[in-house]
Amino acid sequence: NGNISVQDLAARMHVPTTEIIKALFMKSVMVNINQTLDQPTAELVARELGFEVQTEQTVTQTTRTEMLDLEDIESLEPRPPVVTIMGHVDHGKTSLLDAVRSARVAEGEAGGITQHIGAYQIQISGEEGERKLTFLDTPGHEAFTAMRARGAKVTDITVLVVAADDGVKPQTVEAINHAKAAGVPIVVAINKIDKPDANPDRVKQELTEYELVPEEWGGKTVMVPVSAKQKLNLDLLLENLLLVADYELDLQANPNREAKGTIIEANLDKSRGPVATALVQNGTLHLGDILVVGAIYGKVRALYDDRGNRVDSAPPSTPVQVLGLTEVPQAGDEFEVYSDEREARRIADERARKLRESRLLEQAAARSARVSLGS
Ligand code: GTP
Ligand code: MG
Repeated sequence: NGNISVQDLAARMHVPTTEIIKALFMKSVMVNINQTLDQPTAELVARELGFEVQTEQTVTQTTRTEMLDLEDIESLEPRPPVVTIMGHVDHGKTSLLDAVRSARVAEGEAGGITQHIGAYQIQISGEEGERKLTFLDTPGHEAFTAMRARGAKVTDITVLVVAADDGVKPQTVEAINHAKAAGVPIVVAINKIDKPDANPDRVKQELTEYELVPEEWGGKTVMVPVSAKQKLNLDLLLENLLLVADYELDLQANPNREAKGTIIEANLDKSRGPVATALVQNGTLHLGDILVVGAIYGKVRALYDDRGNRVDSAPPSTPVQVLGLTEVPQAGDEFEVYSDEREARRIADERARKLRESRLLEQAAARSARVSLGS
């Protein structure tokens, strides 16, 4: 709607908030730091301070509010973007992420096929100091639709990887649909441009059929030609992700509250028990926290970051491995931390009871269906 807070406008123009308040005061408009300006007023300030105003390009920022509560509003702080890598099998998603992280996950995968969601965080130094980005790597094999849908649900930005020598394929289209359904902006990485038969223009042409038109053709979609193998244009891709995060999205969370988030992956480890990879989406997860996931209850016994280092806490947008759950939770389930252990136990027990009841009802319904069929 073109409205912007004094603080955001100041940040966007890299001027102190007092400059804005002063400029408006000179025009007989009194505002305080907490106020929101409408578009004409914001433009007036910008011109006053010598900025060029581009009105044809009104930027609407969207915030994911699913994980936020009303009480958080006073304590919101910027959080890193969660970026999910999606695309057709073998188009180079894991390799691209490896190249960005300087890691070698792709080489170690069985049959060269990703079969789970990988969660990583990188830190880069930008103009305004250190910036973090969280990445989720999804499988491209057609069998793993549910994982791709899960990835799209928790992400802020989708990187759609399309191999320049192969073009748009069924899971490319599927990924586009997941991102659109989740209302998530898409940044296209046209990968493998080092290959002799690479044809980035054909990829762009094919993508226009799905309403993804590159900026250089007058559209709105950022498309970056890259090579994971030769590490080409990786910085450009990261820069563009941060631009989308900063100008199209308003990524905030309240780090000073009990954690909430989503289980990305979970499995039973022979020696460590249930192990879950959790994405913290609001609040901070701490050692010793009491956590409820679905009908499962637990106390955080250990936390590991994406490199396997033990950590004491995980702020918003951080993926962490959590030990201490009593059972293996379902991937995709949301978790929440409770300050009161008895309350947490009660909620988990209640959910477990409801689950048992609905299972019994289903079984009874199935039995009576068989009986009425005369079998
Ligand atoms: P799934 O997770 O199974 O869907 O595959 P993926 O998209 O993660 O692809 P992966 O990174 O495993 O790479 C598939 C193959 O493409 C591997 O043999 C990579 O070495 C190769 N590859 C990836 N990126 C590039 C690139 O930029 N150039 C070239 N020439 N080969 C690449
Ligand atoms: Mg992969």
